[in-house]
Amino acid sequence: MACHSIQELIRRLEDSGELCRIKERVAPELELSDITIHISKSRGPALLFEQVGDFSMPVLSNAFGSVQRICTAIGVEEIESKAAALHKLIKSEQVPDPSLSSVNRVSPASAPCRQIVLEGKDVDLSILPTPLCWPGDAGPAITLPAVFTRDPDTGRPNCGMYRMHILDSSHTGMHWYKGTGGASHYEKACRQQLPLAAAVAIGPDPAVTIAACTPLPENLYEIDFAAMLTGTPVAMTPCLHSDLQVPASSQIVIEGVLYPDKQHPEGPFGTHTGYYSKPENYPVFHVTCMSMRKDAIYPTTVVGPPPQEDCFMAKVVERLLLPFIKEWIPEIVDLSFPVEGIFSRIAFVSIDKRYPGQPKHVMNALWRMGKGLFSKMIWVFDSDVNVHCLSEVIWKMTNCVDPGRDVVIDRGLVDSLDPAALSQNEGFRLGLDCTEKWAEERRGIPWPRKMHMPETVRKKTRAIIETISSQGSSLSPPQYSKDGTGRAKMS
Ligand SMILES: Cc1cc2nc3c(=O)[nH]c(=O)nc-3n(C[C@H](O)[C@H](O)[C@H](O)COP(=O)(O)O)c2cc1C
Repeated sequence: MACHSIQELIRRLEDSGELCRIKERVAPELELSDITIHISKSRGPALLFEQVGDFSMPVLSNAFGSVQRICTAIGVEEIESKAAALHKLIKSEQVPDPSLSSVNRVSPASAPCRQIVLEGKDVDLSILPTPLCWPGDAGPAITLPAVFTRDPDTGRPNCGMYRMHILDSSHTGMHWYKGTGGASHYEKACRQQLPLAAAVAIGPDPAVTIAACTPLPENLYEIDFAAMLTGTPVAMTPCLHSDLQVPASSQIVIEGVLYPDKQHPEGPFGTHTGYYSKPENYPVFHVTCMSMRKDAIYPTTVVGPPPQEDCFMAKVVERLLLPFIKEWIPEIVDLSFPVEGIFSRIAFVSIDKRYPGQPKHVMNALWRMGKGLFSKMIWVFDSDVNVHCLSEVIWKMTNCVDPGRDVVIDRGLVDSLDPAALSQNEGFRLGLDCTEKWAEERRGIPWPRKMHMPETVRKKTRAIIETISSQGSSLSPPQYSKDGTGRAKMS
């Protein structure tokens, strides 16, 4: 069963020993983030800070700090089969399962997120215990928001996760990258010289948080996707100041508008590159109304060098996105973005190779796919390579690559946070064809024969091996589970 509120998630994590309550007073400036970083990096539990400075609202961090915790939050046993089932559903219906209405309408009077409402001059973002994560940050920032906007042309809604720099008591920055749903809605509103309404849910149903950070195809609304993930509708309530809707069980809802061409420097902020971002102009969000639950808990995450909580969210996103990527590039068998490569900066891809040179086509297709997948490096392998096992990946790369033939250098759009890039958004990208080469790719020389023990030998030796292992020797080979490290686990 999925958790439909942060309160439910806390109960579930506490029951399974995956939550630690911190009763000591912790400052929202740096102290909270330093503890979170340490615990998150050591694969520790979710953290509930009960006393953050003088704020009455507790803060939850690292709740999504493992693939297993995310599965618990969205009520999924195992992410792979869920991703495959979702893909089947989307492929067959192109719309959510008709047996499942993705939304349950809840009136504002009974929506938990409307228990306290602050409007007009009562709006005050400083009542929220928003942490300051790194000493060089420009200020506190909301790091786990679900931002709802509507396409000014089509009326289609979008929900995305974009950092919100708190500028003062009623203004924030809106750090949506070009190409995201929110940014494209804003661009359209600017062209029409119209304000864009936005509503921000802090701590909605956990499945909405996961959907908000998944770069879904444009025709799939994140709320429909969240309902498909959990198999239950999302309770949504109308906004008080616009025609948008927000999840009724959210901890906090912030409503407001973004005026055309009204921008303000955003940042610097510490990023997963290990360096601060450069301040850049982003739209300003003018808050007109805030509301919250009486028992509101403030969920947050700290972004920094991997592995941290956002890496595990990205791993789940990777698995949920793979079926869509396979739909666009059918020869892809599997794909891994190792967390050390911060999201998709490095991609290991296995393909069903059917013709010489195909790996180069796959690299080009991935580089041109957009969807925020800025892979600076793409290594392509044959279908039998486990791209989640770094030992196997390095071994295959070392043996299958001839740098004179198998290296592709491409120039194009790169992640704007890439500190090494040629310029802000443009740089070089590296592709490695790590597949076994066909004779026509090796001047007619056939690829060497693979080494295999005959099955007849194995049948006999296996019994002897089992005896050795039953005598207490640890014989597990390096193993890897898709949990996000990209490292082989030696057991
Ligand atoms: C913790 C976290 C923080 C993020 N911050 C941003 C951000 O500041 N700006 C941005 O454009 N994307 C950010 N993303 C990635 C977007 O949420 C992601 O690309 C999402 O698909 C955007 O939604 P959209 O495709 O509907 O616009 C973040 C993701 C995570 C997990």
